[in-house]
Amino acid sequence: MKFSALCLALLATTAHGLRVPLQRRAPRGASMRSPRSGRRYSFGGSTDKEAIGNSNDLRYTTNVTVNGVEVTVVLDTGSTDLWVIPPGGLGSFNDTGIAIELLYGDGSYGAKGTIGVSPFLWGTYSIEKQAFMNAVESTIGNLQESAIYGVLGLSFDHALASPINAHVQQVYGEDATWGRSVLRNIFEQHPTEPNFIAMDLTRTGDLEDTAGGSFTIGEYEQEDYAQAVEGAPVLPQFPVGGNRWTVLLDGIYVDQVPIELKSAVSDVPGGKVQALLDTGDPTAIVPVALMDAIYSKVPGAIQYTDGTAHIWILPCNTTTNVELVFGGVRYPIHPLDLSTFSDPISINGQDMITCVSTINGADNWSTDFDISLGDTFLRNVYSVFDFGDSNPDGSTGEPYVRLLAQTDPLKAKQQVITIRSATMANMPPEIDPATLIGYLTGSSAAPSTPSSTTPDSPDSIAVAESGGSDSAAVPAPTGDHKAFSADINANGVNIAIDESTLKKYGLIAIALLGLNSIIGIVLIVLGVLGCVRRGSPKKSASGRNAPVYVPVKTHGHDEYGGYQKPYSQ
Ligand SMILES: *[C@@H]1O[C@H](CO)[C@@H](O)[C@H](O)[C@H]1NC(C)=O
Ligand SMILES: *[C@@H]1O[C@H](CO)[C@@H](O)[C@H](O)[C@H]1NC(C)=O
Ligand SMILES: *[C@@H]1O[C@H](CO)[C@@H](O)[C@H](O)[C@H]1NC(C)=O
Ligand SMILES: *[C@@H]1O[C@H](CO)[C@@H](O)[C@H](O)[C@H]1NC(C)=O
Repeated sequence: MKFSALCLALLATTAHGLRVPLQRRAPRGASMRSPRSGRRYSFGGSTDKEAIGNSNDLRYTTNVTVNGVEVTVVLDTGSTDLWVIPPGGLGSFNDTGIAIELLYGDGSYGAKGTIGVSPFLWGTYSIEKQAFMNAVESTIGNLQESAIYGVLGLSFDHALASPINAHVQQVYGEDATWGRSVLRNIFEQHPTEPNFIAMDLTRTGDLEDTAGGSFTIGEYEQEDYAQAVEGAPVLPQFPVGGNRWTVLLDGIYVDQVPIELKSAVSDVPGGKVQALLDTGDPTAIVPVALMDAIYSKVPGAIQYTDGTAHIWILPCNTTTNVELVFGGVRYPIHPLDLSTFSDPISINGQDMITCVSTINGADNWSTDFDISLGDTFLRNVYSVFDFGDSNPDGSTGEPYVRLLAQTDPLKAKQQVITIRSATMANMPPEIDPATLIGYLTGSSAAPSTPSSTTPDSPDSIAVAESGGSDSAAVPAPTGDHKAFSADINANGVNIAIDESTLKKYGLIAIALLGLNSIIGIVLIVLGVLGCVRRGSPKKSASGRNAPVYVPVKTHGHDEYGGYQKPYSQ
């Protein structure tokens, strides 16, 4: 596998040891040979398969060693703290007994445990005493199921952003530097290195389960990136001193047509929105109106709404060019990132697949940013998150982000044809979005014979499509029903089809994933946001050295490559 070579290459660190291994991880049970694994959108019911392949779950992970135990954790720019829940436990470790709970996303899920302190290893980095949460319980979906046992936060560590640091300082005093974030402790260990991290979340094709990427601290992936990064606009953190990696998004274009942006966050300038750059979010979450504005411009895309579930079905081979504007520069999103495959849907006994939107809509998702741009967008850029440069007076400058576009829209268009068709060659045929929506809404159904069924025969049936294994019949709803009736619950949307429709079209069971399974990892921070400045680390007044470059190109991109160099506008 290409991945192994790449992984080894990334493990070969520099003299300064500033690289750490990075891995993209699909849900367990997914395999390289199954094109349907990985970025899958499930129309299946709440079956076992659902629990495993609960889709949209590509996470970018790395291995760290806490208290001598190696743990695979998510790299998360959406939060700050480190927590782990390794299956075999951590053994005996120094447990402060301070109970803590970290909540993510809309606050409905998270992890809880106690704060521990232990030696920490990551690549060639070694921290003698590092605080973390030893979780006893996690309600974040699809982490442990995917053999991922924790989160490594890469955001700011001032008191409001880091509950761990806040608690440690409260109990052990300001001198307890072991409560600071992993990154902060690494920065402090290397005072002459710049305080930034840089990431390349690689897409090596359509649906690979694992792929490389790079993650570096204080240096760039490649020497020739430095110049390009210098040429990229500085995107200051907005608001200054905020808790998160949020910046202003100036505009969105869909095939050159501008989309109107309107922020719900105070102080955001007109026509812009505040965007969170969150590597822990496999997709993207925007207000519903914005999702509609984007996908309504994708030829052939049709929305499907039922109660709280609202998604778009689009042609798998869509070549629509969606571009995000930051700092006056347009950053194209690869059309492959606009949709993901569904699980097979059985229609008249024939399996079909469809493609579903990856920019998800949710209103009131957060009050301190408008949109969350997860890996759907971040795969398209080389991103540099700079915590602030040292000033000559020893103070620290304000944090900012720099992005290098990596998707060439023209090349991407061609890749859609080659890559998607290669992927789809091994899949059931695609059902045309309009036809599927017809089935889903019942508008394509034959006129239903009104309640002429015998009491014994169910007049309506919902079947959990389980991809080949047993289908589970669900008791028919009683009373009035339409040709299709929908029942939305925590597991998704179950759609029941009446008998005549059933006879005509065969069984279709549809369960749309609820938003709760498409989880962006954004730490919910309680307290007043945006008003705390990051403290200035005591840096040597001599400033910093230039980044250390590695003269070797390590990327083993495969035939789907084409991202070898930053694509600049
Ligand atoms: C990370 O840890 C897992 C489980 O121990 C292991 O299978 C995997 O190979 C490791 N990955 C790297 C890059 O070391
Ligand atoms: C555990 O860590 C705390 C904080 O660093 C320290 O005060 C204490 O001595 C440690 N206990 C042991 C047993 O190492
Ligand atoms: C996408 O596929 C459909 C159906 O196979 C075809 O009619 C259409 O031309 C394709 N569109 C593009 C942009 O290739
Ligand atoms: C949720 O968002 C909608 C649309 O932006 C807004 O009209 C509504 O007031 C919000 N509701 C709450 C409870 O904030």
